[in-house]
Amino acid sequence: MLYRAITVYISWTFVFWGALSAQTYIKDVRPIVVKRCGVCHHEGGMAPFPLIKYEDFSRKATTALAAIESGLMPPWPADTSYRRFLNENVVTEKEKQIIKQWIENGKPRGKGREKPIPLPKPWKPDYTIFMQDSFTLYAHDKDRYLLFHVPQKAEKDMNVSVFAYRPGFAQTHHTELFVDSTASQTFEFTRPGFVLNDGNENYEGRYDFMRNYYYLSGWLPGNRYILPTRFGMRIPKGSQFMLMEHYAPTDKDYTFKSEVSLKFTQGKPKRYVTELTMHGHSDLVYTEYDNYAYFHLTKSDSMQESAMTMFKIPAGKVVTLHAKKTLDKDWSCFAVCPHAHHLARKIVTYAVTPSGDTLPLVRINDWRAEWQLMYLTQRFIYFPKGTTVHMFFTFDNTENNPENPYFPPRDAIYSFNADQEMMEFFLFCVPYKPGDERKKVKYPKSAGYLFE
Ligand code: HEC
Repeated sequence: MLYRAITVYISWTFVFWGALSAQTYIKDVRPIVVKRCGVCHHEGGMAPFPLIKYEDFSRKATTALAAIESGLMPPWPADTSYRRFLNENVVTEKEKQIIKQWIENGKPRGKGREKPIPLPKPWKPDYTIFMQDSFTLYAHDKDRYLLFHVPQKAEKDMNVSVFAYRPGFAQTHHTELFVDSTASQTFEFTRPGFVLNDGNENYEGRYDFMRNYYYLSGWLPGNRYILPTRFGMRIPKGSQFMLMEHYAPTDKDYTFKSEVSLKFTQGKPKRYVTELTMHGHSDLVYTEYDNYAYFHLTKSDSMQESAMTMFKIPAGKVVTLHAKKTLDKDWSCFAVCPHAHHLARKIVTYAVTPSGDTLPLVRINDWRAEWQLMYLTQRFIYFPKGTTVHMFFTFDNTENNPENPYFPPRDAIYSFNADQEMMEFFLFCVPYKPGDERKKVKYPKSAGYLFE
């Protein structure tokens, strides 16, 4: 038996070695780089340098391999042993070996032309939401939140399938689109860009002027906001928009004009998307508003109070907080997205159905605030009415957490400010239809090659 095992091992090693020793960049390594790194590390992509061309990758090969081996790249914080996702991007053991061996063999290029990579084709937006005027953000050393007035109102009902955000510049933490479908906003924007928080002002005190706005969709680094084929998010006629952008410190001035391009659902949407949001400082807060979830920023007057009292992460402590919500309807879920800032270390989410089945959702063992990904499920996850969704976030507010914004640590409260904390879980759902749980979630081809 042992002998057999050894022979099998040896012959496999030879086959493998034979395959590996003939590695070239063009034939063997480049397809891996294109597939795993291409979406960000192409010329002009969101990563700081390109990696696709032979010259680029071979120059950075050792660093690239180190980034892969440490799990830093490609960014995929979700634990693949908990649930697999459609947009999963993880370098396999075999792919790692191929890159390693190619480096050891002296990084041969091999013959052949380098074909352009299959990036999603540029598309013509059906509607664009844009800032009224360009805005100059002066160099600053603190996180900043800005609100931008958007002049137009939706001239007709829109069903949106793609939101493409073009934020001001690379140091954007995130951008959010708020909608007031009653168009009754009374707040006067005295400047095109309103600095909500410049590090001194208190964000929480300012909810009230956003009274009628609700969150529609947002962009976080590494995310693309694309709905499944023939799915739509409704924006009622007459809606007014507002952009909220959150910027990291910068050492120079930037003048910019942000935009959000929308692509409409082709034909009448088959399904209307609702975003259910669970908050760590309360239960899940949602009511249905048209066809999507409506989280009213001022609905809970006690928000500040609960933020201060219930949600507190004491300095010097590691705490695990648990929030849960029981759903009062049948839902089919197709994407999940947890959100926290720098004190979070670990996130575990799951749902328990009324019959007692546990459905793992997403688990992140080593949370990194810079990668707030949307995890797309392969099939719909059916949440029968009465299902309870649980989320557990572990926060490390000690000096051992290198991401801690304060040394020595300070108590953290619930706040949009990145030096405080949040504990959110977004579930993208459609009302359940019988048979959903057996269906694969389909995306349009234009969604990009990472989905294939
Ligand atoms: C989702 C986008 C994305 C993908 C996919 C991605 N990267 Fe990156 N990569 C980035 C960004 C953004 C940075 C700069 C910020 C950072 O270091 O986190 C970066 C930084 C790096 C760095 C520098 C890390 C350091 O030590 O500072 C290396 C090396 C790297 N990437 C290699 C790769 C390789 C190799 C792949 C594919 C196997 C890959 N990346 C896939 C976005 C991406």
